[in-house]
Amino acid sequence: MNVLLCGDFDAAERARWQQALAAALPEARWLDEAAAQARPELAQAAVVANPPPGSLQGLPRLRLIQSLWAGVDRLLADPTLPAGVPVARMVDPAMNAAMAETALWAVLSLHRGFFEYARRQRAGRWQVHAQRRADEVNVLVLGQGEMGRHAAARLAQQGYAVHGWRRDGTPLAPLLAQAQIVVNLLPLTPETRGLLDAAFYAALPPQASLVNLARGAHVVDADLLAALDRGRLRHAVLDVFNTEPLPPSHPYWQHPRVTLLPHAAALTDPRSAAVVAAANLRAALAGAPVAHRVDRERGY
Ligand code: GLV
Repeated sequence: MNVLLCGDFDAAERARWQQALAAALPEARWLDEAAAQARPELAQAAVVANPPPGSLQGLPRLRLIQSLWAGVDRLLADPTLPAGVPVARMVDPAMNAAMAETALWAVLSLHRGFFEYARRQRAGRWQVHAQRRADEVNVLVLGQGEMGRHAAARLAQQGYAVHGWRRDGTPLAPLLAQAQIVVNLLPLTPETRGLLDAAFYAALPPQASLVNLARGAHVVDADLLAALDRGRLRHAVLDVFNTEPLPPSHPYWQHPRVTLLPHAAALTDPRSAAVVAAANLRAALAGAPVAHRVDRERGY
């Protein structure tokens, strides 16, 4: 089987993936972009990580596009993505676990006020605040896919009062009105882009907090900054941004009520993800159904 491997990885990342994929799928021959362009009839499948737009067109024998990323919004935004070829997103158990850990760290830190204590340390201030129990904290998880469900289960295990929301017609406003911490794990689709806007923050009780682990484009940055600056929102933990890397001049960097990560909440783990990708590539080439196939209409 001839498989194109392409993405925006650096040389070290590419080597790591190459090694993990070769171990999981020893029967494959791996092509890079140049090899696939020189002999487009060779590529039977593609394993991709945010490939440059255009890199998957003109490959007549392609049977599967397997993403190494869980979120396929950038992949689907490529107008040259071949229409008839199934696309599968990555569902990696190690990534689900890492995302649940990050959600737990953020919720725990917000619940106990540890970000506030960090601020007080920088100010040299010794001051204790009240302590609540986990079951007194309402956490709303937006998105009930792989990551949303794993994060919600981990938070519930920790004793939080967890509620989940998905875009299935369930009204969001009553859930927002009760939420002290919102964890966003929605897929980015035309319907969810910009969902976290001024109306969304206004629907939360005063002093709620936001944890965005999904995509930057869910957030209207000006509205989030206004909600933080007016004291409407207590704190935001942000892993993803409208522009990545976050530009050095962006107000989030220095904002006292923002804690940020460099899109690192959950990385795909080559050791487990290569096994998932290999099973899907074998299925596709055998004409069997592939797992975690993306519904292009729905956008995830
Ligand atoms: C990370 O953001 C991913 O979609 O895998």
